[in-house]
Amino acid sequence: MTGKKEATPDLKSGKSAKTVEDFAKYFQPPSLKEAKKRGKEEIKVHYNFDIPDDMQEIGKGKRYHVRTYGCQMNEHDSETISGILEAMGYTAVGNVEEADVVLFNTCAIRENAEDKVFGELGHMKRLKNNNPNLILGVCGCMSQEEKVVNKILKSYQQVDLIFGTHNIHRLPHLLRDAMFSKEMVIEVWSKEGDIIENMPKIREGNIKAWVNIMYGCDKFCTYCIVPYTRGKERSRRPEDVIAEVRDLARQGYKEIMLLGQNVNAYGKDFEDMEYGFGDLLDEIRKIDIPRIRFTTSHPRDFDDHLIEVLGKRGNLVEHIHLPVQSGSTEVLKRMARKYSREHYLELVRKIKAVIPDVVLTTDIIVGFPGETDEQFEETLSLVEEVGYDSAYTFIYSPREGTPAAVMEDNVPIEVKKQRLYRLNELLAKIGLEKNLPLQDQVVEVLVEGESKNNPEVLAGRTRTNKLVHFIGDKSLIGQFAHVKITDVKTWTLHGEIVTKIEV
Ligand code: 5AD
Ligand code: SF4
Repeated sequence: MTGKKEATPDLKSGKSAKTVEDFAKYFQPPSLKEAKKRGKEEIKVHYNFDIPDDMQEIGKGKRYHVRTYGCQMNEHDSETISGILEAMGYTAVGNVEEADVVLFNTCAIRENAEDKVFGELGHMKRLKNNNPNLILGVCGCMSQEEKVVNKILKSYQQVDLIFGTHNIHRLPHLLRDAMFSKEMVIEVWSKEGDIIENMPKIREGNIKAWVNIMYGCDKFCTYCIVPYTRGKERSRRPEDVIAEVRDLARQGYKEIMLLGQNVNAYGKDFEDMEYGFGDLLDEIRKIDIPRIRFTTSHPRDFDDHLIEVLGKRGNLVEHIHLPVQSGSTEVLKRMARKYSREHYLELVRKIKAVIPDVVLTTDIIVGFPGETDEQFEETLSLVEEVGYDSAYTFIYSPREGTPAAVMEDNVPIEVKKQRLYRLNELLAKIGLEKNLPLQDQVVEVLVEGESKNNPEVLAGRTRTNKLVHFIGDKSLIGQFAHVKITDVKTWTLHGEIVTKIEV
């Protein structure tokens, strides 16, 4: 690890730190190798997070801006980061130019996600030159990679602070260090920490809310960096999750998205009880909140009890995001997904038997090392067979430190692009076929806001997560409406309002 190991100013005395120990206070680098280890240590749950008195006013009169990249887990982490900053007196601002603190909450899942962050960090240099008091921080998944931290140290000296996904609760201390230190402050714990329950959150909007049910991932699919950046699986206690959902219901939220990297492994880490995701959903469905969703599922842990509970419906919506990644058993084996094509199709059959109108969506990677034309054709045939309403599709991106990164990547990029194109064409064809029966049907829409492209039009989603546009009064935002579908497109539906629903 290379860093500027000159003397660092000591916070308390205002003097420079002279020893390596002092320096270590400001410089705790990540290690993917450490992050890979899985121990038996018990995970403790803490309920005593607070902001020290002397830091509660530190942000008074100052503004912050958090820019989030990546998945919903990151979006939700940014809500916690905002909560902490506001508890320190900061107020949010919509642009980086007016901010005193700018944090980039980053995603490491694919190389292009990282390139985007480095590009934006580059742009921040000018801003930092104009305002040397600006604190620029990098957090999220990229900060867990030593390669990234090294690159920032070498080429992005405009960065003041780097902290990891397990260090969010340390933000007040780290921010104060960054304000008073001339050196870059780096604190990234490679080993996951305990669960900290009561961190403040500033949620975006008051219609839909994210709720974490677990952190981390133990699956170690060979292409994926998440088990390294997010640590081992740790489930929140059911009573804490349920209390949070109840509280959100009381506040009037209409939809909850339960979050975890692998929600189907929920509870597997509890040592004192047998309690799984099906059990949790069976309790949450009794809470008076109109819609409950969850993401992301791993097919391997999707058990019969969960299917049975989903079959009770009510506020459990008929949409399951079930990443398949590939339709070839051979490729799935190399990805270490721990299921075969047949097992996946059997799971889909079981789900459809209990919920015949279920909408399935998925994630697919094309061009995994060694993927042959025939194996790719198996992905296409699985897509036809399942009949996904939509999918996120990706070209495989090698992630340093993961097992797939050292497999021979023998699929030419042109072939990968061609495969992605063919897959997306097929998904579009099926997507339209799936939507056509909705023509002239009346669907229940949760109205989320104005359409992105036309403020005269309202946008909302069905229980199955389909985007619906229609003309209606702005007072409908945050409400449910019955909308008759008049025009069906591949990825969107257009309709006219029939009635507003009182909930
Ligand atoms: N390359 C391409 N796609 C990836 N994903 C995860 N890791 C990689 C990678 N190295 C995709 C998977 C996952 C989704 C969140 O991102 O499809 O389900
Ligand atoms: Fe989310 Fe995974 Fe990206 Fe991290 S790497 S932000 S967990 S998608």
